[in-house]
Amino acid sequence: MTNQFKDGFLWGGATAANQFEGGLNEGGKGLNLADVLPGGKERLKLLASPGFDFEIDQAKYHYPNHEGIDFYHRYKEDIALFAEMGFKVFRLSIAWSRIFPNGDETEANEAGLAFYDRIFDELAKYNIEPLVTIAHYETPLHLIKEYGGWKNRKLVEFFDRYVEAIFTRYQDKVKYWLTFNEINGATHLPLLGLGFSPESEATRLQESFQGLHHQFVASARAVKKGHEIIPESQIGCMLLYAPVYAFDANPENVMYVRREADLFNFFCGDVQVRGEYPYFAKRYFEENNIKLKIEAGDLEEIKQGTVDFISFSYYMSRTDKKHKTAEEMGQGNLIGGVKNPFLSASDWGWEIDPIGLRIALNELYARYQKPLMIVENGLGAYDQIEADGSIQDDYRIDYLREHIKQMGEAVQDGVDLIGYTPWGCIDLVSASTGEYSKRYGFIYVDKHDDGSGTMERMRKKSFYWYKQVIESNGNEL
Ligand code: BG6
Repeated sequence: MTNQFKDGFLWGGATAANQFEGGLNEGGKGLNLADVLPGGKERLKLLASPGFDFEIDQAKYHYPNHEGIDFYHRYKEDIALFAEMGFKVFRLSIAWSRIFPNGDETEANEAGLAFYDRIFDELAKYNIEPLVTIAHYETPLHLIKEYGGWKNRKLVEFFDRYVEAIFTRYQDKVKYWLTFNEINGATHLPLLGLGFSPESEATRLQESFQGLHHQFVASARAVKKGHEIIPESQIGCMLLYAPVYAFDANPENVMYVRREADLFNFFCGDVQVRGEYPYFAKRYFEENNIKLKIEAGDLEEIKQGTVDFISFSYYMSRTDKKHKTAEEMGQGNLIGGVKNPFLSASDWGWEIDPIGLRIALNELYARYQKPLMIVENGLGAYDQIEADGSIQDDYRIDYLREHIKQMGEAVQDGVDLIGYTPWGCIDLVSASTGEYSKRYGFIYVDKHDDGSGTMERMRKKSFYWYKQVIESNGNEL
């Protein structure tokens, strides 16, 4: 049986400005959050700890995001390589601080706008549809330092100005948009999505949910405005999705993981897709002493600004139980839980679970009945260049093949799946660790954690394999 992906299925790849553009100060760009995050494993510790200072300290750290993979100057070569693979869609983000360097200006920066014109025009040459994330972990630094990030209601207004500028400018060039990347990751690591580190563990939930409320309003306004300015636009939410399995059949554990899944996977989706806070929010807020400041009109705006489709990232599932010891906890999975004895893991400890993707697709479709797009998925791995110059990344091909098979199963289950953009289609800087060595790409970039490398691009074995996947609309795996 064929996989039955629909005609016009959006095959492609995904990136984010801060992880691959470089061009730190070019075209009048202002600094953003990613520019102050150091490279290396210490990044994750800093992200998780309260009191991050948002300063650049070159003597102590290095900052790979400053250079990225220099897409800023090499975009023509990179887009030609995407076209060679047959991409129908390319996911990228706009760096807010290229358009509004501080974030609170009233006039957009022309050089920043012109940069993305060049990118979209280049994509159009090859009929590659851009899929643009409006906010991908790159809040302008000034908004963080002066306003305290998304805790501050003022960011709704600044964001509104930013989306108006980009919708207006790119109305004839971009049809597919996503508002906030992995919006539900915010309660977990507020620093990345919300642009502040909580004052203390005790206030983390209160601060994060307030920040999230501001993003819900901002996202709903963006959807409404997008539909007005670009009538044919399709605007989606973007969730970090991980099915949550009960460790065993103990009903106590089953109930526990059900609530955890509701909170992590569905809370934000319910607001952005259904236009209202979920039924379980009231009790959860009361029990955790969360008191939201909701202004008059917010809930109506949220109701009016529901998304057209749901996009999500899928890397791993989570297995959990109510009472667990430190030894039982999984080592690498960023989203927590206990080790699943049935799954193996990547070199970074992320558990590999292709069937979990079919489960995710079914769960999301059962709940919302809206078109789904997988906008991130992939294997971060160490790659090696062979003596003959080739890169034999069969482990990556195996990972992707098994996930695409499960996508095919979900389509046959009846899920409306419209696209697939594996993460880091070209090697780039890792978000959680700031490493170059955690590679996801079909295209190898000669750049290394110690700063060395020529930035030369090379096709990996997976490049040719993915080309054939796209050519056959997912039937030749
Ligand atoms: C997602 C992010 O969480 O995972 C990306 O949206 C990120 O920005 C990707 O790069 C993979 O994570 P990492 O830490 O391996 O780069």
